[in-house]
Amino acid sequence: MAATAPIRRHHHITLCTGSAQEDYDFHTQVLSLKSVKKTALYDGDVPIYHLYFGNDLGEESTLVTTFPMRQSGRKARRGTGQVRWLSLSVPSSAIGFWRKRLTEHGLAVRESSRFGERALQFQHPCGLDYELVGIADDDRKPYSNGEVPSELAIRGTHAIVVSVREHETSNEFMTVGWSAQRVAEDGRFVRYVFGDGAGPHSGQSGKIVDFALEPELPQASWTYGEGIVHHCAFQVDDYTAQDQVKFRLEGLGYTDCSERKDRGYFDSIYVRTPAGALFEATVSKPGGMTVDEKVDQLGTSFQIPPPFRHRTKELMEYLEPLNY
Ligand SMILES: [Fe+2]
Repeated sequence: MAATAPIRRHHHITLCTGSAQEDYDFHTQVLSLKSVKKTALYDGDVPIYHLYFGNDLGEESTLVTTFPMRQSGRKARRGTGQVRWLSLSVPSSAIGFWRKRLTEHGLAVRESSRFGERALQFQHPCGLDYELVGIADDDRKPYSNGEVPSELAIRGTHAIVVSVREHETSNEFMTVGWSAQRVAEDGRFVRYVFGDGAGPHSGQSGKIVDFALEPELPQASWTYGEGIVHHCAFQVDDYTAQDQVKFRLEGLGYTDCSERKDRGYFDSIYVRTPAGALFEATVSKPGGMTVDEKVDQLGTSFQIPPPFRHRTKELMEYLEPLNY
């Protein structure tokens, strides 16, 4: 049977952060991403904000989304068996600008390099590891608020880095289940590329999963708790492609692949990978982020999630204040 490659690119990466205001200011002011949606987590009976940041339209692979957890009091443990850090793409020529900008905002910045790519490493105020990677051939259209000109702005996700105790268990999952190609090794890192990122004429940003061998670290939390990446979502074209991913995973033995869940702006299935990280394969709804707000009003008002519609007053009174 011919193998097909339904996983296209990252769709969004979702983090459990600290206070809502601190998180909002970090993403919209320091990183100058656009706030494209303010809603709440669809799961559970205690409301938790769900904030979306990205480009003008909140397009796939530009989205970083957060659950600010400080109000809940729930903390998580960082470690291995989880996505451990997030790489975002900036133009190669913008590295100097970003080093200065991040430092001026009081962040400790460290330069590093992986797979020949130059990166600036720093942390979200809640301790999560971030990276800006200088990429020459990324043609995704960034948001610009005027303070960071578009020619220097963040383009979207570049890679996620999954921390593992061993590489071997992830290989079949990635190459068969996630239709990726193992393309390179660099020290303790192994790189997989999926979608058309492995082709000769396409940039790889937004289509990379790196695995970092870190057997010395403790097992990270999988729950919602401050200070960890919760999951990474990947775009598939339609329900047929999504069903194909689920069927293939179940054929490999991942019978815990979830049913399809309606997330308002996309429909998702979830699977716990052998590395421990939670992956999501998602289909954007027609209209994407504009299903409940006009393009020029994206992110300007709070959207009550459907599971909480009968508790709107309670939800709004409970959630911590957020100025925007
Ligand atoms: Fe998600």
